[in-house]
Amino acid sequence: MMSRLRILSPKRNKRLQTGWEGFFPYYAGFPELFARELLQSAKLPSHAVILDPWNGSGTTTYAASGLGLTSIGLDLNPVMIIVARARLLPPSEADHLLPLAATILSHARAASPTLDPSDTLLDWFKPTTAAFIRGIEWNLRRSLVGSRTKSPDSVHLDKISGTAATLYVALFAVCRKLVTPFRSSNPTWLRTPKEIEARLAVSPATVARYFTENVKGMSTTLAEKLDADSLAVGSPRVGECKINLSDTASMRLDANSVDFVLTSPPYCTRIDYTAATRIELAVLGPLLSTNARALGKQMIGSTQVPCTSIEVDEKWGKTCARFLAALQKHPSKASSGYYYRTHLDYFDKMSRSIQRMSDAMKPDSRAILVVQDSYYKDLHNDLPKIISEIGVKHGLTFKQRKDFHLRSMSDINPGRQSYARPSGATESVLCFTK
Ligand SMILES: C[S@@+](CC[C@H](N)C(=O)[O-])C[C@H]1O[C@@H](n2cnc3c(N)ncnc32)[C@H](O)[C@@H]1O
Repeated sequence: MMSRLRILSPKRNKRLQTGWEGFFPYYAGFPELFARELLQSAKLPSHAVILDPWNGSGTTTYAASGLGLTSIGLDLNPVMIIVARARLLPPSEADHLLPLAATILSHARAASPTLDPSDTLLDWFKPTTAAFIRGIEWNLRRSLVGSRTKSPDSVHLDKISGTAATLYVALFAVCRKLVTPFRSSNPTWLRTPKEIEARLAVSPATVARYFTENVKGMSTTLAEKLDADSLAVGSPRVGECKINLSDTASMRLDANSVDFVLTSPPYCTRIDYTAATRIELAVLGPLLSTNARALGKQMIGSTQVPCTSIEVDEKWGKTCARFLAALQKHPSKASSGYYYRTHLDYFDKMSRSIQRMSDAMKPDSRAILVVQDSYYKDLHNDLPKIISEIGVKHGLTFKQRKDFHLRSMSDINPGRQSYARPSGATESVLCFTK
């Protein structure tokens, strides 16, 4: 018999983002406590494999690893691969971080490469500032990113070491802090200054100080974790974890290889997951084989119109078909064109991804998906219901839906002001078995 799952609220909460968690302030589908309690209550055997196909900042892989369980985390955004790998840095590495950062900084002060005029850091920073930030990144890459990660023809970010990933996260945080003047009311959008003169000039000393402060904070927090672990009875077993760069709509996982899925798929709220990490993608520029626009197009929930024409598929279920028909007929501007086509793209990628996820699950395994509903103008997009139906069409059995009301909706949907609709949103925890 399957054990009863303990489902806490998946709402993000500032109070839960302290300590090591506080260094990974990226959009997250759910807090670490939610993931840990759920995995623990599942009473999985020690050889079980946990999958998060949309791993983002790596909450599932981090929680699984802490419980000694093997896990696989996938994401299409290279920034999230680095963040999720950094989060797994063993506390025993705490001592290395500051001396490494000091060496990297002294090399950056002494010599930096000539800045490429197409470097996207120049979108926000004046050339001397961009050159110093690139100098830190270049020295970090030179000392810590080896040939296993970077070969002449391609980059395997999923092989980057935890230490290198952690120093990248510290540099991401420096840039995030510096570009604060360009944040807008839409939490995922970062403006670029229109006038060249408005680009930021920050002294190397300030950039270096912010970088050192971040690394120091991370190192101290890790050391505290090390002390806490040493007080625990028995040495904690850390689970093996693979973090891979992958597109779920075309991913290849071994059939019948996964015991438990815990994930939060991209929402249908026009959140552009690539735009939310534009500054981090700029830092990673030389390590990427793609650009932000091409990556954005591949994302589930892309705001770009797909190149090919997509038809409504029977596998998307009845609720989805009804919602799409209403959206297409909606009298507002661009509903039958742009918005209809981007929604088709969303459901097409989502259905193909769930098919692959289901194929990878073992018989009698479970999948937990945290999904949020939204509104298109006045039309309710009951994404939890739609995903439940897509899951069933792809061979899963739908078991349970637990709803949590959120006071604010994490969307930037058009028409929020002009259409009557309830405030807030519902975040649902969906449980399936195979
Ligand atoms: C709601 S977030 C997941 C948050 C995660 N639970 C966490 O702890 O941060 C959804 C993730 O899906 C990723 N994503 C979007 N399209 C994808 C695709 N086609 N393949 C893989 N990942 C994708 C986004 O980059 C984003 O990180």
